[in-house]
Amino acid sequence: MVADDPKVFIFDLDGVITDTSEFHYLAWKKLASEIGIQIDRNFNEQLKGIGRIESLNRILELDQTNKQRTADELEALATRKNMHYQELINSLGSANILPGIETLLKEIRANNIKIALGSSSRNAKAVLEQLGLIQYFDYLVDAAKVTKGKPNPETFTTAADYFNIPYDQCVGIEDAASGVEALNQAAMFSVGVGDVAYLGEADYVVRDTSQLNFSEIIRKYQQWMAV
Ligand code: G6P
Ligand code: MG
Repeated sequence: MVADDPKVFIFDLDGVITDTSEFHYLAWKKLASEIGIQIDRNFNEQLKGIGRIESLNRILELDQTNKQRTADELEALATRKNMHYQELINSLGSANILPGIETLLKEIRANNIKIALGSSSRNAKAVLEQLGLIQYFDYLVDAAKVTKGKPNPETFTTAADYFNIPYDQCVGIEDAASGVEALNQAAMFSVGVGDVAYLGEADYVVRDTSQLNFSEIIRKYQQWMAV
């Protein structure tokens, strides 16, 4: 690690480390159709990175019948979605780690840079354990303790504050527009993984995780710092 290297890498989970963003989508789609609402992948883009109840509220806004639901009913629907999701992630294993991720984690560690997880998912720890990646992480942000979800920067600043590292010495990796916005609001270096049409606000965008190269990220980070 050299002086102007970043000190912490903060990873999003779903859609960055593993392909579980697809499972969140399928679980929401199933729940939605059970209550007569149809959602598609385009709509799903705005659910990425967004917490469980907030996601449910966005889906219910599509409900033509305008049915009013009590807090208990909302809780029950969110729990049902989570049951659909947990069924899908039951058999998750190392085969579900996205390309290039484990190599990147190893390289970050080899350079003595801290690694944190900044996910909105309350299932995050279990997923990391199932993938066999938990040992790479120095700190996991607990989504249940974050009061303001993405696009608010709190998820990411919680990780930086834990290490007592200035925000501009943090690199965040995200597949969601809400996550990129959160990183940018925290004034961290934002790496977007996916379609530039959704992630254009990121400081650096790669098409997919196989394009995440440690040296290249450091180079882009240093250019960003120099401006
Ligand atoms: C991540 C995913 C979202 C998901 C949220 C909450 O941010 O991108 O799709 O809704 O976590 O996940 P949870 O597992 O707590 O329902
Ligand atoms: Mg994500």
